[in-house]
Amino acid sequence: MQSIIDKTAEHVKLLMSGEGSGHDWWHVYRVWQNAKRIATTEIADSDIVELAALLHDISDHKFNGGDLTAGSRIARAWLEELGLAEESIKQVCYIIEHVSYKGAQVETPMNTIEGRIVQDADRLDAIGAIGIARCFAYGGFKQREIYNPDIPPMLHADFETYRNSAGPSLNHFYEKLVLLKDRMLTDTGRQLAEERHSFMIQYLDQFFNEWGTKSSTI
Ligand code: NI
Repeated sequence: MQSIIDKTAEHVKLLMSGEGSGHDWWHVYRVWQNAKRIATTEIADSDIVELAALLHDISDHKFNGGDLTAGSRIARAWLEELGLAEESIKQVCYIIEHVSYKGAQVETPMNTIEGRIVQDADRLDAIGAIGIARCFAYGGFKQREIYNPDIPPMLHADFETYRNSAGPSLNHFYEKLVLLKDRMLTDTGRQLAEERHSFMIQYLDQFFNEWGTKSSTI
C-alpha cells in the first residue's frame, strides 16, 4: 500500500505543481499532512485517508467547468491502474465526491470517519493565515475585487448560487471561512481550527481598522 501512496503523491505533485490560485500541490500536501495528524487520533483506515487527501482536488469543479464527478472519475482511473481493491477505490471516490463546501446554508454530510478526517483537513487549510492567503490568491485568479463595501456577503442557500457568486474576496470570509470552525467533524479538527479562526477574526478587525470603519458593517 505504501507504494500506491508514494506513486499517488508523486503523480499529484507533477500534475498540480506551480498552480497559482491556492489549489496547488502544496495545498494538497498540507491537507495530506493535516489528515495524517487527525487520523492518529481517530479509529480510521489511514491508507484511505491518505489517498483521498492526495486526490481530493485532482479535478475541482471550480476549474473544470463545473463538472462535479470528474474528480472521482480521474481518481478511479488512476487507482485502478495501480491495482487498488475496488472496495478501497469506492471509499476514496465517495470522499472526493463529498468533500467540497457548497454554501453557507448547504449541509455537506460525510458518512465515513475517513471522509470526516479529510474534510476537516481540507477546511483547516481554508482558514487561518494560510486560508487568508489562499482566499486572496483565488480572488485574484478570478479577477475579483479585494473588498467592496457596496457589495454585502451572501449566505448562499444552495450550491448553484454559491458557485456562481463572484463577490469580492473579503465576502468569502463571511460566506465560508469564519463558518468553518463550527462545522468541523472531528475533535482534533475542532481543536486545530480554534487558533486559526481567532487569527482570522483578528485579521478582519485590523482590515476594517485600516479601511476606516470601526468594525465590519457586515
Ligand atoms: Ni482542497
